Amino acid sequence: MSETAIESILHEERIFQPPAEFAASAHVKSLDEYKALYDRAAKDPEGFWGELAERELDWFEKWDKVLDWQPPVAKWFVNGKLNISHNCLDRHLTTWRKNKAALIWEGEPGDSRTLTYAQLHREVCQMANVLKQLGVQKGDVVGIYMPMIPEAAIAMLACARIGAVHSVVFGGFSAEALHDRLNGAEAKAVITADGGFRKDKVITLKEQVDKALANNTVPSVQKVLVVQRTGEETHMEPGRDVWWHEARQNVSADCPAEPLDSEDMLFILYTSGSTGKPKGVVHTTGGYNLYSHMTLKWAFDLQETDIFWCTADVGWITGHSYIVYGPLSNGATMVMYEGVPRPSNPGCFWDVVEKYGVTIFYTAPTAIRSFIKAGDQHPNARDLSSLRLLGTVGEPINPKAWMWYYQVIGDERCPVVDTWWQTETGGFMVTPLPGATPTKPGSATFPFPGIVADVVDLDGNPVGNSEGGYLVVKQPWPGMMRTVYKNFERFRRSYWEHIPPKDGQYFYFAGDGARKDEDGYIWIMGRVDDVINVSGHRLGTMEIESALVSHPSVAEAAVVGKPDEIRGESIVAFVILEEEYEPTDELNKELKQHVVEEIGAIARPGEIRFSDDLPKTRSGKIMRRLLRSLASGQEISGDTSTLQDRGVLDKLRGGA
Ligand code: WTA
Repeated sequence: MSETAIESILHEERIFQPPAEFAASAHVKSLDEYKALYDRAAKDPEGFWGELAERELDWFEKWDKVLDWQPPVAKWFVNGKLNISHNCLDRHLTTWRKNKAALIWEGEPGDSRTLTYAQLHREVCQMANVLKQLGVQKGDVVGIYMPMIPEAAIAMLACARIGAVHSVVFGGFSAEALHDRLNGAEAKAVITADGGFRKDKVITLKEQVDKALANNTVPSVQKVLVVQRTGEETHMEPGRDVWWHEARQNVSADCPAEPLDSEDMLFILYTSGSTGKPKGVVHTTGGYNLYSHMTLKWAFDLQETDIFWCTADVGWITGHSYIVYGPLSNGATMVMYEGVPRPSNPGCFWDVVEKYGVTIFYTAPTAIRSFIKAGDQHPNARDLSSLRLLGTVGEPINPKAWMWYYQVIGDERCPVVDTWWQTETGGFMVTPLPGATPTKPGSATFPFPGIVADVVDLDGNPVGNSEGGYLVVKQPWPGMMRTVYKNFERFRRSYWEHIPPKDGQYFYFAGDGARKDEDGYIWIMGRVDDVINVSGHRLGTMEIESALVSHPSVAEAAVVGKPDEIRGESIVAFVILEEEYEPTDELNKELKQHVVEEIGAIARPGEIRFSDDLPKTRSGKIMRRLLRSLASGQEISGDTSTLQDRGVLDKLRGGA
C-alpha cells in the first residue's frame, strides 16, 4: 500500500454508529458492554473462557483446568471430553431445532437441497460408518478434496465424529499440490467427488485425485470415497475407490460421537508461509469449538432466525470456521453456494440472497470490488431487504469498497463487520461487535474479548499512535493453532521468535503490519513477510518461485506482488532463463501454465518478466523491495547502497 493510501486511511473521519434497533436486540448492546467483557476477559481469562465453555458447549466430561500455558504450547480445557460433531448436530436434535434447516445448498446449475439438523445428522452418521468400514480409525488423517456441495461439510463432520483428523485441500488446487499435501499429512483415505460445477464448466476432481495418487506415490492412502455430483464417467480403481451412494446402502444411520479429548487433533489445514513449503496448521477440538462458536455468535450477532451465508470455500479456514463448525455449533441455518459470479450470471450472489432471504452475508473485499465493477444494476434489481449485517475478510478493505458495501448492498442499514484473522487463529481476532462498536471504513477496529492484541516494534515495545508496527497477540486464546503438523520447531520459529520473548512475555507474530489511530482503532496494513494476498488467497512467493524453477527453462525466479485494483495484489515473476532458452511469448505462457499445474489457477502469475539478472545484496539475497517498486512502476526510493550491481536496476527498468 502506498504512503498516500495510508495517510488517507489514517485521516478517515467517518464514523458509523451501530444502528439503535440493531443494538437493542444484539448479544452485545453497547460499547460499555464490550469494554466490560473485554476487561473481564483480560483480568480473568480462565474464568471468562471457562464460563463460556460451560454455557455454550456440551461436554461428556468436564475439564480439570481451563488453561495450561507453557509458552508457546497451550492446552485448553485440560482433560475435558467432547465431540464437535455432537455439538454441531446431536445436541440440537433434542430441541425444536431438530427440523430446522441446518444447511440450504444451491448448486451452480440451479439445483438445490435443504438438510434439516436431523437429516444432516443422519448423513454424517452414515458417512462416519462408511469411513469406519473403510478402515479409518481415531487419529487417522483423511484428505478431503471436494466441490462446494453438502457432502463437503458432511465429510468434515463424519471425520470429527469418529476422531479422524481431516485435512481439507481446496478443490482449486492442482493434482501436484494435492499430492504434496496428502503426503505431508500421511492421509490414510481421501474423500472426493467425481467433479463439480465452476463457472459453467465441469471440473473433474476425481481425475486430479487419480493423478495425485498415481503409481502409488502417496503410499499412505488406501481408500478413496467418491461422491457422485456430475454423473460424468469416472474411473474407479478396483480395491481402492468406493462410491459413497453405494457404500451408504450397507451402513446404519446410527454412529455415536466418539468422546474426544479437548486437545485431540481436529484438523490440519495447509497454508502458505514465507518459506517454500506450505505449513500444516493444526487445530484441536475443545478450544477451536468454543472459539469458532463464540466469535460467530458475538461478532455477527447470530440469532435463532438468521440465515447466514459465507461465500468462502470449505477449502479455506473461513469455510471451516464459518460455513461448517461455527454456524452448526450455534444451531444456525447456513447457506452454501457452489457457484461464483461469472459472465453468464454476474448477479448470481444477489439471486441467492433474495431467494433464501439471507440476513447475514460474509464475503471478501476482492469480491466487493468486482461487484462495484460489474455495476449497481445487479444488486439494485434484487430485493436485498432481508440483509441485516455485512461481513468482510481476507485482506484490508479499502474505504471506497467499504462505503459501497455499506450503501449499495446494506442500504445504510446494515453494520459492516471487518474481521481480521488467520488460518492460525481459528476465528476472528480483531473485529467490531455490530451492536457495540462504532466503525470506521477500512478499520477492523478492536480485539475480540479475550484477545490481547497490540502493535509493537521488533523488541516488543508498543509503537506510538499512527506509527507502523507489527500486529501481535500477547496472551493465548482457545482457537489458536497448536503446532505445525509434525514440525513443532517450525511453529516456534514462524510465530514466536520474530519478536523474541521478553521477561516471560511471549509474542504471537501474525505476519501483518498494522497501526493504531488516536482512538485506538487497529488498521491492518497487510503482510510484512514474503506472503502475498491475491483475491484474498494467501500465497507464499517462495512457493511460486519453486514452481517456476521446477521448469527446465528456468534458472532463477523472484516473485513479488503488485497492487491490483480488483484482486488486491497480482503476481509478477522475474525470471532468469537457462542459457539455451530464448524469452518468447510462448515460453511466457507455458511458464504461467506450469505454475497452474504445480499449484493451481489461484497462483497463475499475472505477468512474467524475463531478465538477465536480479538485484541482490552483496551477500546474495534478492532485494524484493526493489523488485516490488519495479513491478508497480514506482521510482526506486530508499537505500540501495547494499545492492551489488546497480546496473541491474537500469536493465530491469528498461526491460519492463
Ligand atoms: C489477511 C483468512 C486485513 C492478513 C481468514 C492475514 C486481512 C491473512 C483481513 C490470513 C482483514 C485477513 N483485514 N487483512 N479483515 N483478514 N487478512 O490464513 O494478511 O487465509 O494475515 O485467513 O489474510 O489469511 P488466511
